[in-house]
Amino acid sequence: MDKVRLGLIGVGGMGSEHLRCLLLDEGAEVVAVADLDEGKLQAAVERTGGKAKGYKDYHELLKRDDIQAVFVAVPEFRHKAVALDVFAADKDLFLEKPMATNLRDTDEIILAGRQAGKLLQIGLVYRYASFFRGMKRLLAEQQELGRILMMWCIEHRLSFPPIPWYHSQEKTGGAIVEKDCHHFDIFNWMLERRAKRVCAFGARSVLVPGGDYYCEWPGLKPAVIDYGDNVDHAEIILDYGDGITAHLSLNLALRPADLSLGFPLEIGGIGWNGRKMVSHVDEGTITFTGGRTAESQTHDMKDEQDAKALAHAGGMQEHVEFLECVRTRRPTYADGVVGRESMLPAFAAERSIKEGRIVEIEEIMDEGLLPNEPYCEPPMPR
Ligand SMILES: NC(=O)c1ccc[n+]([C@@H]2O[C@H](COP(=O)([O-])OP(=O)(O)OC[C@H]3O[C@@H](n4cnc5c(N)ncnc54)[C@H](O)[C@@H]3O)[C@@H](O)[C@H]2O)c1
Repeated sequence: MDKVRLGLIGVGGMGSEHLRCLLLDEGAEVVAVADLDEGKLQAAVERTGGKAKGYKDYHELLKRDDIQAVFVAVPEFRHKAVALDVFAADKDLFLEKPMATNLRDTDEIILAGRQAGKLLQIGLVYRYASFFRGMKRLLAEQQELGRILMMWCIEHRLSFPPIPWYHSQEKTGGAIVEKDCHHFDIFNWMLERRAKRVCAFGARSVLVPGGDYYCEWPGLKPAVIDYGDNVDHAEIILDYGDGITAHLSLNLALRPADLSLGFPLEIGGIGWNGRKMVSHVDEGTITFTGGRTAESQTHDMKDEQDAKALAHAGGMQEHVEFLECVRTRRPTYADGVVGRESMLPAFAAERSIKEGRIVEIEEIMDEGLLPNEPYCEPPMPR
């Protein structure tokens, strides 16, 4: 197998995880890394055994014509600038989610990739997890719920890390954009349609000045998070039309704030057939109950490849498939359009909270640069 020669821009929390996965992948050769932070840069170079060259200025990395593709894991308020430079340097791009902090920047990234004829894969890691691909098969092929009537997602966990940009609306587009593009993508994927309107409520109530939320993330200096303007909890209701609904419950202020609770995530659904699905990603189980036969069944979805990813299931496979796309020029699965769709309900929810009203998705789409096309779900790779 030909090794794909790669560069990484941003080797903080997520960039380090990309590096770890790529070093385990025999199809990858990491030849360069870039980061503004000298300590993180040196640590990344050392992890490659000195094989990768380190650059403080990522433009220098992009000048190398031996690099075929680049992983970008800088904060999202810098995604557009770096992504456009990657395409201008004629390289394929793996870009972390969320694609940007607003729809115009998102669309500029998609258009620049198309114009350059380069591949774009977004870090919607769950699209690559056996767990969720198994869920998709149970729902789409085995029709466990028949036609899906409603879905939900419950993510109650510790805060974002004690890194200031994570807590800023301006720098993330909002906590719901930063975090829940993953979960809206699961709704899109399973329901195969786009939400029509969104109503949300939320606030920053715990991680506030005078608060005592002391957060300990591995590898980061522990700190009290008593700053920022992103919501720390929210309830979001989505109307998909034709009676189909979904809701998402987010809490980012659970204690203990030290990762000991992991990242518990429940995804559920109820079908027109009266059957209910409850899945726990951290436990690796999907359970169906009720329906005409009232038969209860639990599927063990634990998977070796999923387990190799430290942060989220799918973290190994997303690299394997991206490298395969670079080699074969096959389109990526979580491409720019999938990434864009994952953000539309998030932008609407942020606006709904700010303006205290129901927000139509069409209103959000009208602000983009791409024409308003009907929702199109790409085929799942086998
Ligand atoms: N897919 C996932 O599940 C997942 C999980 C965590 C984070 N993320 C995403 O990954 C991205 C990075 O998050 P993180 O947690 O690693 O943040 P981080 O702050 O830990 O790391 C970002 C790194 O980028 C570097 N950087 C910033 N600007 C730069 C520039 N111009 N040139 C070079 N380096 C630059 C910083 O020095 C830092 O080391 C975000 O978009 C985040 O949403 C995705």
